[in-house]
Amino acid sequence: MTNVSGKVAVVTGGNSGIGFATAKTLKEKGATVFITGRSEERVQAAANELGVTGIVADAGNLSAIDASVEAVKAQAPQGVDILFINAGVFFPTPIGAIAEEVYDNTMNINFKGAVFTLEKFLPILNEGASVINLSSINAYTGMANTAIYAASKAAMNSWTRTAATELAPRNIRVNAVNPGPVATAIFGKTGMSEEQLNGFAGAMQNRVPLKRFGQSEEIAKLVAFLASDDAAFITGSEYNIDGGINVNPLLVA
Ligand SMILES: NC(=O)c1ccc[n+]([C@@H]2O[C@H](COP(=O)([O-])OP(=O)(O)OC[C@H]3O[C@@H](n4cnc5c(N)ncnc54)[C@H](OP(=O)(O)O)[C@@H]3O)[C@@H](O)[C@H]2O)c1
Repeated sequence: MTNVSGKVAVVTGGNSGIGFATAKTLKEKGATVFITGRSEERVQAAANELGVTGIVADAGNLSAIDASVEAVKAQAPQGVDILFINAGVFFPTPIGAIAEEVYDNTMNINFKGAVFTLEKFLPILNEGASVINLSSINAYTGMANTAIYAASKAAMNSWTRTAATELAPRNIRVNAVNPGPVATAIFGKTGMSEEQLNGFAGAMQNRVPLKRFGQSEEIAKLVAFLASDDAAFITGSEYNIDGGINVNPLLVA
């Protein structure tokens, strides 16, 4: 069984979905966990439910990330072993209608936020730490209406590889996880109507060889493995966890 006992973990965007499930799994497997999020109410509710420490920090705000590092440092002076960079947003928008706000918000949270989360936490990452970046198979799929979201994740995957090279001398491993569609609140935050969401989910599910959405807990298990010493020789890698969608079959069974 994956063991992260005694490790200190920080999960960004930990109050919901994949982040919440991963914080739960890491705690169950013995880690001391900090979650971050942008809403005081949602972060505190999740932290209370999980029995972990909640920190309010907007991933798109560098001063807020600085403050979160200080808060973790004060409560875990031994340093951080697991950094799960998970906070992200999804605003499906067709090319021709991409407003500057969609571009800025998406890149700011999904990519710039990820970059500066690592930059700011780096001084308190321990030797042997594991950084896991939550990307997406959208980086590769060319799915309609996801141009900027997909680009933010493709940038993340490229940056992951360089970070793995540069941090290897400190024995800090950096990997990316690329989920396919996972049943979380992210879709409800897109502004799509229930009817649109149902149509979108049905169409997407049909393209997945395993014919279903993933569950946050399934992603959490992979992240926990990459966070553990069982993955000590894995760095600079990407893991698709997508029910087979990245196979891109011309026909599905
Ligand atoms: N669900 C999928 O199908 C899927 C597939 C591939 C990749 N992903 C990626 O998985 C990650 C987690 O998404 P999810 O599906 O679990 O969605 P989710 O349930 O909406 O969780 C996203 C988390 O990130 C937080 N967040 C958003 N913007 C933030 C900001 N500026 N600062 C701090 N926290 C912020 C959210 O807070 P609030 O609750 O306040 O919004 C929430 O806690 C994202 O990076 C997403 O791109 C998801």
